[in-house]
Amino acid sequence: MEKENILRQNYAEAKVKDEYSGVAWFYNFWSWLTESKSAKKVIELAHIQSGERILEVAVGTGAVFAEIVRRNTGGVTEGIDVSPSMMAKADERMKKYPKERYRLQIASAYKLPFDSNTFDLLVNNFMIDLLPEKDFPPLLSEYYRVLKPGGRIVISTMSFGTKWYNKFWQWLAKHFPALLTGCRPISIKNYLTQAQFDSIESVLISQNTFPSEVLKAGKAAFT
Ligand SMILES: C[S@@+](CC[C@H](N)C(=O)[O-])C[C@H]1O[C@@H](n2cnc3c(N)ncnc32)[C@H](O)[C@@H]1O
Repeated sequence: MEKENILRQNYAEAKVKDEYSGVAWFYNFWSWLTESKSAKKVIELAHIQSGERILEVAVGTGAVFAEIVRRNTGGVTEGIDVSPSMMAKADERMKKYPKERYRLQIASAYKLPFDSNTFDLLVNNFMIDLLPEKDFPPLLSEYYRVLKPGGRIVISTMSFGTKWYNKFWQWLAKHFPALLTGCRPISIKNYLTQAQFDSIESVLISQNTFPSEVLKAGKAAFT
């Protein structure tokens, strides 16, 4: 099959932050329409065990974060996001959960404020597809660093899809990138391998024609 090209993306972190202060108010509706199926798959593949140390990078408005905290009753779940507007929605959503079970903070995926080998599980949904391709290796190395040996990551991204109608989104991302806040189809499987993750699983999903990919990978138990 012909290799599909990842569209160039030049949004720096500050630009992404700006974009999300503009869309936070309707983001829940958008993700319910296009990403909720992937979110369910993320939770299924994550196999959350109560008592784990879990990090979600880019919690957004907190829909997946809340589900992780609900399942991780005996553990601590950390969440970060770079956008104060998105985080405000997540804070609001989390009010009904016991404070000792989670911590939310503003931070960047490029420099996670955690020690190496800290987490059993790291989850990251629909964020890498916003960022320049040259940043994929340092981001994935940072994820690898904070995972414990034997830990796992689950990532979802916009994908190229396999159906003819999925191509609409590629066209939209190319010609009207601002409508998707710079999100475009990507493929990160090879980047995961390069970052030393193993046991990679991938599931392709299409929801209301929007194509995505959910990937699970592991950090070897002995490194
Ligand atoms: C498309 S939304 C996804 C939100 C959430 N993960 C979900 O699936 O509903 C992208 C999120 O990534 C966050 N983000 C983008 N770049 C980031 C970075 N470098 N570090 C942390 N968060 C980032 C944005 O602020 C935004 O909340």
